[in-house]
Order: sequence, then C-alpha cells, then structure tokens
Amino acid sequence: MPMQLTQQQQAVLDGSQGEVMAKVMKTLVMYGETFGASRMVPVTSQQGHLVTSFGLSMMKPVYELMDQLIEGGALSQQKFTMDPRPLDPAVPSNFLQNLVFRVMYSKQADYEAQLQKLGLVSKDAFTCTCYMPEVGNEPQKGEILSWAESSAVVYANSVLGARCNRNSGIIELFGSIAGCVPEFGLLTDEGRKATWVVEVRTSQKPEAQVLGSAIGMKVLEDVPYIRGLDQWLGTELNDEAKAYLKDMGAATASNGAVGLYHVANLTPEACELGEALITENAQTYVIDDAELARVKASYPCIWKDANAAPKLCFVGCPHLSLAQLEQWTDQVQEGLKASGRTRVAVPTVFTAAPAVAEAFRSTPRAKVLAEMGIVLSSICPLMYMNNPLCGKMPVITNSNKLRTYSTARYYTDSEILAFLTKGGQHA
Ligand code: F3S
Repeated sequence: MPMQLTQQQQAVLDGSQGEVMAKVMKTLVMYGETFGASRMVPVTSQQGHLVTSFGLSMMKPVYELMDQLIEGGALSQQKFTMDPRPLDPAVPSNFLQNLVFRVMYSKQADYEAQLQKLGLVSKDAFTCTCYMPEVGNEPQKGEILSWAESSAVVYANSVLGARCNRNSGIIELFGSIAGCVPEFGLLTDEGRKATWVVEVRTSQKPEAQVLGSAIGMKVLEDVPYIRGLDQWLGTELNDEAKAYLKDMGAATASNGAVGLYHVANLTPEACELGEALITENAQTYVIDDAELARVKASYPCIWKDANAAPKLCFVGCPHLSLAQLEQWTDQVQEGLKASGRTRVAVPTVFTAAPAVAEAFRSTPRAKVLAEMGIVLSSICPLMYMNNPLCGKMPVITNSNKLRTYSTARYYTDSEILAFLTKGGQHA
C-alpha cells in the first residue's frame, strides 16, 4: 500500500526543496512502505541522536553522503547528540594498538566536522546515554523520536514513554532532516502492546544485565510485560531504578532485539494502563534463580586461553550515570581497603558521558578513582575492542552488550569487583 503523504511531504518528494531532500524523503517513504506504514508523523523531540559516531577509514560512502546532504542544504531540522567516540588516548593501549586506531579511525576529525555542519548540538555531545540529566537530551513521554542507538531507543521507549522504532543508522538522520518518520511498530498503540508476560520469581534482586539478557534471548524483538520486578526495584522511577533499567534494557536490546518493555507498577505506560497492555494470547516466560544461572552459564568464552589473566576491564556500557560512577568508586575503594591494596589489580576503564564525567571530576571521588589506577573515559568500549589486536586481549566487562558484540568476557558486578580488588585469575 502506498503511503498517504501530506501536501507538504509530497511536494518535498517531488523536489520542491531540491534533489537531495527529495531523495531523503523517498528513502523514508520506502522505509515506511516496507514496514506497512500508512503515513508520516512529525518528529516532536527537542533533539535527535545519531548512532554512527566513528570516522572509520573504510566508510567512504557515508562521508560522500554527508557531503551531498551538506551541499544540498539537507541539514537536520533538530540538533542532535551522537554515540560515543571510538578513541581516547587515556585508555590503555600499546604502540601497535595505537597505530591500528590511528589508521582505522583516520577520518574521525573530518567526520566530526561534517557532523557539526549537519547539526551536532555541541562538540562534546558524544555518548549513548544522551538522556542523562547532565547531557540534556531527555525526551518527554509521548514524544516521537528518530533515533537508532538500540540501548537509547529501548530506554526512551520503556523508561521515558517516548516513541521510537529501532531505526538503522543514517535512516535516523534522515528522519531528523525531514522532520518526520513513518508511523509503524513502536510508534503505534497496538505496536506497544506486550506479547510476552515475564514473571520474575527470583530469591534476590536479579543482576540487571543477566535478566535483560534472558528476556532478550527469549522474546527477541517482541514487547515483554515484566511482573515481579517492582518487588526489587520499588514503584518509584528514581535514579537507582532508572540506572538498573538502563543496563537491563541494553541487554534486552543486544542479546535480543527488544525496543520496548513494560515493568508492572514502575514504567510509565505500565503505571497508566496496567495489564490492559498485555495482548490476549501473550506467552509467558518464568525467570527464577535457576533460569538466570542457566542463561549466564550459556555464554561462550571465546578467549584463546580461557584461563588467561584479564588484561583490561571495562565498566560502563552503556555509559554510567553519575550515581553509578560514585557507587563503583566507593565499592572499589572499600574492596581495596579490605584486601590491603591501594590500586586495582586489573587495568580498568570506567566510561560515562563527557558531561557526566565532567560533573564527577569536580567531586573529591575523582582523585580517589585516579589514585586507584582507574581511567575515566567517554569512549565506546566496543569501538575499542573491534579490531584484531584488541580482540585477542583477555578483556572483562560487566556489560552484556559488550560481551555479545566483542570477545570481552562477561562477569557480574560483584565478580568484577573481586577481580579489581582481590586480583587472581578468576573471581
Ligand atoms: Fe554505548 Fe558503545 Fe556500549 S554505544 S551501549 S558504550 S557499545
């Protein structure tokens, strides 16, 4: 079925704003028709967010496309934030790795100059947690977004109640340029209904990243309605609950392809509509202690030597909140004190948005963190890992997303703490 466009959208498609804008609109129309959309709806969020943040030397077609957009005047109608940068000289790397980074990301500076012309909100707006208060790109409930970063999309939909599909890179930029997106899937009331009920019946608060992984692997791209989690998180969407849901959501979105989940008595739509969100024939998935243990044990270790001592640890994928940074700093400090050490046993990088890192650096804990030997950075750990040299390194992480897309090995928060504060090969 062809989409019904407004007069103005049709005019753009017919070339009223030039050939480049016509191509942008045509791409969005084709995208919408592929997914059965019948119309376009306006993008209503204050800011956009783009996923392609890295100046990989091999992405020549992207740079050519960006040039065409800029020259054709097809600039973003809304300012946007970006996913994290791939590089930070402060993150430990050897001579060869540095060489590889320099060659791989040789287009970074040129690409960032293009992004600034297109509508990058500020030169340091590089994070996947653009919705943190310190960053300021936090959509309101009901707003329509054109984003693609999977961890940010699932957060915006589920925790903030905004509306966004799991778009791809570049398509999300086109939505921001045209100011409209095709209406289908998670933009519709029907598409936001749950086709799965997840019953959490654990004996203690589940590890966010394992719970999200279990849910993602089971429901894949469907919408789950999660019961029983409010007994561990409470019914107030406070900073702690939001940080938990951020990490859980990123795991659902990467271990599966979840774009929206509802948590009974906690997330906005579940509070508003309750079980009316559940479809008639919804399937049920029960998660207890044994199921979480089964899921965690199923992760393959793809290190060459499974018994190797870790050489690097990443905490903060997705980027940490300010409260999480403070909590990790305190926990490592206490752990080191208890084991009679002063510095972490594994070179460690905590990652957070530039604005969050800046806020943290103005607190006394920043000195404590540095003295313990932990680097605070704003890179994307995955971009660091995605090359043959780093891929061979035994890297540990508490991120299930990083585990899924790289050779990094997943450990729970307490296992990571043990590695850092007690040393040894295994927690
Ligand atoms: Fe963010 Fe990069 Fe992880 S974009 S979620 S830090 S893979």
